[in-house]
Amino acid sequence: MTKLGSSDLDVARLCLGGNVFGWTADEDASFAVLDAYLAAGGNFVDTADVYSAWADGHSGGESETIIGRWLRARGNRDRVIVATKVGMLEVGGLDNLRADTIAAAAENSLRRLGVDHIDLYYAHQDDLGTPQEETLAAFDVLVRAGKVRHVAASNFTAERLTSALAVAEREGLPKYVALQQHYNLVERSYEGGLAEAVAAAGLSSAPYWSLARGFLTGKYRPGVTVDSVRAKGASKYLDERGLRVLGVLDEVAAAHGTTVAATALAWLAAQPTVAAPIASARTTGQLADLLPALDLELAADEIARLTAASEG
Ligand SMILES: NC(=O)c1ccc[n+]([C@@H]2O[C@H](COP(=O)([O-])OP(=O)(O)OC[C@H]3O[C@@H](n4cnc5c(N)ncnc54)[C@H](OP(=O)(O)O)[C@@H]3O)[C@@H](O)[C@H]2O)c1
Repeated sequence: MTKLGSSDLDVARLCLGGNVFGWTADEDASFAVLDAYLAAGGNFVDTADVYSAWADGHSGGESETIIGRWLRARGNRDRVIVATKVGMLEVGGLDNLRADTIAAAAENSLRRLGVDHIDLYYAHQDDLGTPQEETLAAFDVLVRAGKVRHVAASNFTAERLTSALAVAEREGLPKYVALQQHYNLVERSYEGGLAEAVAAAGLSSAPYWSLARGFLTGKYRPGVTVDSVRAKGASKYLDERGLRVLGVLDEVAAAHGTTVAATALAWLAAQPTVAAPIASARTTGQLADLLPALDLELAADEIARLTAASEG
């Protein structure tokens, strides 16, 4: 377990990604994945109102609805840190961070999740058209009402994260406690200005696409056809550099008697500012490959070899 940034949330070192629930995992499969994650010691589940509006016949809210049914069915609300997001759902015009959007979207998320509060509520993406004062004041209303415990940012630049923190400080409004952004062994633009801003403010990072959409599980190899909605996004990493990274992942994973996926997640968890990489699994079989990351620690030289392979 680790503290998430400047919050009092004690989170597992692997956050379970929820965009699969109701999309590539039906309700039974989703319940099984959630059960197995919790049984293994996980406590941090990530979703968003927009999941999975991009799928045919979906309008968003499918993932939150399944998580809500699971929480009710299992009666385990107090054992789960529920993170959800606002600001990307085009349906109903909820793809912004205006005060009216945040108020309405939060009620929708609370209803679908069947909870009286959200533990971590993210601004899903920045909204340059809305003053940061307005967004943070809207979050403040939710925090004061006990409907949200902490707020966080996702997909912000370093400058906008820093200015939001300054506005919160100046106006006495809630401060973002963490940043969720794209980061993994083959996508490292987070390192640099963004990581520096997160570190300087004492926040944590919860990176998404931690497995590069499945590439870092090792299932994408030359000559192998993968049947997945993510295959196009993941297979683009199958170049010279990607093969080099997989080669070192194979060796380090073998040395620990563990999986390539867990090794890639452990590399990410070891990076400065990273509290809990977010990764999803469609099945309990896939999840089993990720779970060792809950407590896998790599040696300094293993981390350095992986870093070098991804740079070199
Ligand atoms: N804030 C944001 O803007 C943002 C954006 C994207 C995602 N997220 C969050 O981050 C989470 C993770 O992202 P993601 O799920 O898209 O990508 P990911 O974690 O990088 O990749 C997960 C996918 O890899 C495949 N996989 C996982 N374990 C496997 C195994 N053992 N063997 C083979 N394949 C395996 C599965 O897809 P297939 O079986 O389909 O190949 C799985 O859905 C999301 O659920 C969401 O909560 C946030």
